[in-house]
Amino acid sequence: KKIAIFASGTGSNFQAIIDAVKVGTLNTEIALLVCDKPGAAVIEKAELASIRTFVFNPKQYASKADFEQQIIEQLQQHHVDYIILAGYMRLIGSTLLEAFANRIINIHPSLLPAFPGKDAIGQAFRAGVKITGITIHYVDEGMDTGPIIAQRAIELTEEDLLEDVERKIHEIEHVFYPETLQKLLGK
Ligand code: GRF
Repeated sequence: KKIAIFASGTGSNFQAIIDAVKVGTLNTEIALLVCDKPGAAVIEKAELASIRTFVFNPKQYASKADFEQQIIEQLQQHHVDYIILAGYMRLIGSTLLEAFANRIINIHPSLLPAFPGKDAIGQAFRAGVKITGITIHYVDEGMDTGPIIAQRAIELTEEDLLEDVERKIHEIEHVFYPETLQKLLGK
């Protein structure tokens, strides 16, 4: 299966997926990086790995439907089967949802349905939960609401600072996202 990864920021999950493909634990082809933030660090990671990019500025389009139509053309040109969101900080609109029904997957850094939306790690930390984790799910029109595919939990201790929780979450993301994608899409 060919995938496109959508990301807006650092791209550490994108890098983990690249690395898993490289060592052969994930049997997919990363056909394209789609990024809605010109200048984001993730773009450099794609270039270093010789992965094609489609970078756009949403402000230069009249509507979400317009830029999503543009994205769909790119995805079709590259024969993309699945869309993998990895820190894409934007709700997917009906144009893309209809074109890729049940073929859009997201990772979210909390045990959904707890703490959807932005800053999920901070939300969980401030709530004082003793167990949190990550969720991999199909994307629907809501904010982090689609059918859950897999979850992984971690325990927090009294000593954990916010940065410790962030580190623990990212560590399991980087292992568990490629692993789960292999189960779903790998040959
Ligand atoms: C990850 O924590 C992911 O769960 C969330 O956004 C973050 C992206 O981080 N959706 P990175 O850009 O992959 O480093």
